[in-house]
Amino acid sequence: MKGIFKKREKNFTSNEAESNLDVILDVEEGGIYHRQLQMIDLTKKDLIMLKQIKPLVEENIQEIVEQFYENLDHEETLIEIIDQNSSRERLKKTLTNHIQEMFNGKIDTPFYQARIKIAHIHFKIGLQPKWYMGAFQDLFNSLLKILDKGLPDKEVFQQAISATSKILNLEQQLVLE
Ligand code: HEM
Repeated sequence: MKGIFKKREKNFTSNEAESNLDVILDVEEGGIYHRQLQMIDLTKKDLIMLKQIKPLVEENIQEIVEQFYENLDHEETLIEIIDQNSSRERLKKTLTNHIQEMFNGKIDTPFYQARIKIAHIHFKIGLQPKWYMGAFQDLFNSLLKILDKGLPDKEVFQQAISATSKILNLEQQLVLE
């Protein structure tokens, strides 16, 4: 397994010219979304890195999602919210898709529209920002563990963590608005 990661990692680049990956950063110059991205220095380089580590995330997605829901057991009110509005099984599927989408290397109008919808849903079910933020940290903890294991090259690991924390921060900016 390690060998596969090593081979994959050797070709990693955050340089757009060197990468043949198709990433999209489509926001209006000077608009609010552009300014929010500038604030956290999220650039196409980060999207390239996210797209490169997507396979690693996909390989471990089940573990990430299981851990996410186990973690919610710490707070009984969250389990009540889920039982009243949905089910663990249903949410596991939506979360699995959502996490993988974060690594698509694409930030455009549909990306923003989907997050606005998720924000409305969470507002409607009464999910408090403190629990939402806590759940994000749990996601970050899981991703950190996976990237640490899968990316032995320190420089690549650092770039991957930086890009991952930026995309999670953007998600939080949008959903907690
Ligand atoms: C719905 C993501 C935290 C409860 C959703 C959906 C997504 C999502 C993608 C589906 C939206 C749709 O149907 O289009 C996330 C992310 C979270 C998070 C990324 C944090 C990292 C939580 C937490 C709870 C929760 C902590 C605990 C109560 C729900 C419920 C729904 C939902 C009950 C479904 C509502 C319905 O089906 O109408 N979430 N969620 N979410 N989420 Fe979250």
